[in-house]
Amino acid sequence: MADTFNWGIIGLGRIARKFADDLKLLPNARLHAVASTSQERASAFAEEYSAPFAYGRYEDIVNCPDLDVVYIATPHVMHAENTLLCLENGLPVLCEKPFAMNRQEAIRMISTARRQRVFLMEALWSRFIPAINYVLALAAQGEIGTVHTVKADFGFHMPFDPNSRVFNKALGAGSLLDIGIYPALLALFALGKPMPEDILAAAAFTSTEVDESCAFTFKYPENRLALGHSTIAANTPVEAWLYGTEGTIYLHPRWHFARKVTVSHYEGNSVGQRDMEFPFEGWGYQFEAAHVMECLAQERLESDLVPLDFTLDLVETLDVIRERIGLEYD
Ligand SMILES: NC(=O)c1ccc[n+]([C@@H]2O[C@H](COP(=O)([O-])OP(=O)(O)OC[C@H]3O[C@@H](n4cnc5c(N)ncnc54)[C@H](OP(=O)(O)O)[C@@H]3O)[C@@H](O)[C@H]2O)c1
Repeated sequence: MADTFNWGIIGLGRIARKFADDLKLLPNARLHAVASTSQERASAFAEEYSAPFAYGRYEDIVNCPDLDVVYIATPHVMHAENTLLCLENGLPVLCEKPFAMNRQEAIRMISTARRQRVFLMEALWSRFIPAINYVLALAAQGEIGTVHTVKADFGFHMPFDPNSRVFNKALGAGSLLDIGIYPALLALFALGKPMPEDILAAAAFTSTEVDESCAFTFKYPENRLALGHSTIAANTPVEAWLYGTEGTIYLHPRWHFARKVTVSHYEGNSVGQRDMEFPFEGWGYQFEAAHVMECLAQERLESDLVPLDFTLDLVETLDVIRERIGLEYD
C-alpha cells in the first residue's frame, strides 16, 4: 500500500470544499480526482485544489488511474447510488452522513462492500474530533459514574428556499437527516448497546413537507435516556451533555466539533470542575480522513470506531424517528 493516499471526491458542493481544505493538512493525503455533474465545475475545483483529474460525470471517476479512496459529498438521496458505483468498481468509500435514506439502502451498500471486500465508512466526522474522542473514552471508563442521560441540540436558522438541499424533499431534506443525526449519533456512541427500547418523537413541518424541527427521546433499559433536538428554523446553542451518577461532561458549542470540554464531579454538596481545551487547525475533517487512511494502510475493510453495524443502527434509529413523526420520502 502506498505511503500517500490519492483521494477522489464526488459532488462538489460546500462540504466537498471544506474536506478538500482539510486534506491539505495531512501530509500523506492528496486530492487526486474530482467528479461533478458539470465539467466546468470539476475543472475549476481541480485547478483550485491542484487535483490532476477532473470529471464532468460521476461514473467516469471509477476509471481514474491510481485512485485510492473516494469521498461521497452529494445530497443524501444520492449517497447509495454513488457509493455503490465506487464499491462495484473496487474503490474504497467514505460516504457523507446520512449514510442512506433508509435501512434497505444501507443494507445494500454494506453487503456490497462486504461482498466486494472493499473498505466503507460513514463520514461521522464528530467521532474523530479529539474532544469527542476523549469524552467518549472518559465516559466509557466510568469517569462520571454510569451515564444515564445524554442531551444534545443542533439548530440553525436557514432562510426558506424550497429548492435547496435543506428544504427540497426530493433531495432528502429536513432537520433530522441533516443535523438531528448528530444528537442521535452521540446518544448511540455514549449509551452503547443495547439499543433504545422505545423512541418518542415529534416534529413541526415546512410547507415542503419535511421536518423543520424535530425533538426525540430514546428510552433505554435501566432508566437511561437520550434527548435530542434539531431545527432549521432557529439558531440554538448546539451544546451537549452527558449526565452520570457521579458527574457531568459538557461539550461546549458547537459540540459536534468541540474544542472545549468541562468535566464536573459531585463532591458532597459542591461540584468540582475542570476545563480542557482541544485546539485543532482547519475545519476538523482531517481526523476522519486520517483514520480512513490508517484503516486502508492496515488493509481493514471497516473502521473500528465507526463500524458498519453502528451505521446500520443509526440508519434504523433515524427510520424509527421518521416513522414516529410521519415523514416518508419517495
Ligand atoms: N459532515 C458534515 O459536517 C457535513 C456538513 C454539510 C453537509 N454534509 C453532508 O454532505 C452532503 C452534501 O452537503 P452540502 O452541504 O455539501 O450540499 P451542497 O452544497 O448542496 O452540495 C451538494 C453537491 O452535490 C451535487 N449534486 C448532484 N446532484 C444534485 C442535485 N440534484 N441537487 C443538488 N446538488 C446536487 C452538486 O455538485 P456537482 O454538481 O458539482 O456534482 C452539489 O454541489 C449532504 O448529504 C450533507 O448531509 C455533511
